[in-house]
Amino acid sequence: MVFGGRSAEHDVSRTTAAHVLRAVSPERYSVTAIGIDTHGEWFQISPDSLDQARSGAVEQVDVVGIPIGVGDLMPAGHVGDGPVVALPLLHGPLGEDGTIQGLFEMANVAYVGSGVLGSALAMDKAMAKLVCAAVGIPQARHVVLHAHDHEANEVEDLCELLGLPAFVKPANMGSSIGVSRVGSVAELRAAIDVAFTYDRIVVVEEAIAGREIEVAVLGNRAPVAFEPGEVVPADTFYSYADKYLDGASTVLIPAELDHDVAQQAKDMAIAAFLTLRCSGLARCDFFYDAGGRGLMLNEINTMPGFTPISMYPKMVLAGGIGYPELIDRLVDLALEEHESKRRRIDHP
Ligand SMILES: Nc1ncnc2c1ncn2[C@@H]1O[C@H](COP(=O)(O)OP(=O)(O)O)[C@@H](O)[C@H]1O
Ligand SMILES: [Mg+2]
Repeated sequence: MVFGGRSAEHDVSRTTAAHVLRAVSPERYSVTAIGIDTHGEWFQISPDSLDQARSGAVEQVDVVGIPIGVGDLMPAGHVGDGPVVALPLLHGPLGEDGTIQGLFEMANVAYVGSGVLGSALAMDKAMAKLVCAAVGIPQARHVVLHAHDHEANEVEDLCELLGLPAFVKPANMGSSIGVSRVGSVAELRAAIDVAFTYDRIVVVEEAIAGREIEVAVLGNRAPVAFEPGEVVPADTFYSYADKYLDGASTVLIPAELDHDVAQQAKDMAIAAFLTLRCSGLARCDFFYDAGGRGLMLNEINTMPGFTPISMYPKMVLAGGIGYPELIDRLVDLALEEHESKRRRIDHP
């Protein structure tokens, strides 16, 4: 299990790590925990810290222990009789974006979740939109800006094209960091500058007046989609504060949707999952404009929030699969995916 990490979701990941430790059966798994601190240093977490988290004495696993190098952490593919499965409980860049997945591939270790390409595509909002548009998945109208050739005088044209209000976001981020809702040309200009401090690629898109519908997808090549849930933000949009600080947003599981719309959301979620070459799990997020444009894909998260009270595990639970069983399924899917890739690579 790898947790923590340099992203803004470092603390959330430490909470997830504590819950996963409590949920997994000690008979079935022998857990090794590697924590990454906010500076990117790696630590092998001591058995004492793990026991504390297991017993519920602490809410989060601390990133303290023996410092290790990236190369030291790769176990062989097997320990004793059982295979090793890595569980990257990391969110955002350097965790959910294909980087650590590449490390696992090179080390020949099975891991939970999407591979290098799926993780990288889903993390990059500009690329995910491009690829999903190519297969006809409906989305908000948007423009992709590149830092090296972005000119300030483009901003008026963007307003003309997309209308106001509009949303501005760094391509590779998460947790609503760097995301702004803008209502004027001046605000748009400022928001683009902010977004460029997080990434060289920025997406500007029309604001969709609609509900936020999320679908949990579980599986590899024949994934299943669970009944949609809905997030009702308390802020003007589902901001960082709303997600992690105030916690004032509410969730509805299942979302109140007509059967046809719910089915369409599930179909679109699976289409997006397969199109972006995701595997294991993903949470597909949509906007739903009941009055006109229907469902539009917003984004896919390949390592969605994963504490027991997060949307993904709750939507899966509503479908009858509890948290410990979900972890078992993910481990099995990781092994299946690894095996299927290896068979092809090792082909004479
Ligand atoms: N085009 C849009 N129209 C309306 N709301 C949006 C739009 N884009 C983003 N938002 C709001 O901003 C939030 C964060 O944007 P999102 O693209 O999901 O980024 P993140 O990856 O940080 O979650 C969304 O949950 C939604 O509340
Ligand atoms: Mg989002």
